[in-house]
Amino acid sequence: MKVTWLGHSAFQLDDGEHTVLLDPFLTGNPVATTDPATLNPQTILLTHAHNDHVGDTIAIAKRTGATVIATHELANWLGDQGVTNAVGANHGGTVAFPGGTAKFTIAWHTSSYRLNDGSLAAPGVPAGFVIRFGGKAVYAAGDTALFLDMQLIGEEQLDVALLPIGDHYTMGPNDALRAITMLRPGTVIPCHFNTFPPIQQDPEQFQARVESETATRVVVLEPGDSHEFS
Ligand code: NI
Ligand code: MN
Repeated sequence: MKVTWLGHSAFQLDDGEHTVLLDPFLTGNPVATTDPATLNPQTILLTHAHNDHVGDTIAIAKRTGATVIATHELANWLGDQGVTNAVGANHGGTVAFPGGTAKFTIAWHTSSYRLNDGSLAAPGVPAGFVIRFGGKAVYAAGDTALFLDMQLIGEEQLDVALLPIGDHYTMGPNDALRAITMLRPGTVIPCHFNTFPPIQQDPEQFQARVESETATRVVVLEPGDSHEFS
């Protein structure tokens, strides 16, 4: 199973047969190196409605026919925008997609989408996912603060956790380290940092702390880079 970081919270998961996109914010993403027109997922997972997560979802879904999996209200809103295959579910529920499943977890954050006229749309609440795909269990935290129920998610035998470390809008490096002590994943890939000025962080410093204080390995990627989990 190959994980590609597309920058910010955008990831691609690939099992050699199926492709899953997570929060594909590429157009307008100052660190992204990937042209969204080159992506051909069967499935798009959306954690919440903020523009830096919905990103290119609508255009990619319309072009490819990909199924978009999101919380109920966000999926309905995407349907209103012309996305024909939006599947709404909710926290605790598991949705199957080609090659795997995604279980919705809670996330402590907010959720709204700013339209071009400045108004806010897309009701609903944020989520994370425990994704089972390519023989691996991947926790995509989405945007969240630290929360104690990560202990429950840690019982899922996680191979990989995709964790925000940027601070300001999400947990920062200190709380991400505390999250790792509850999640106990084999590997963490940090995200949601160094995209915008308020979320500047040093991922190598984070890596050194995590690897000295926990049994988890940290893989620091550059936008566009991949890591293969065998
Ligand atoms: Ni957000
Ligand atoms: Mn965000």
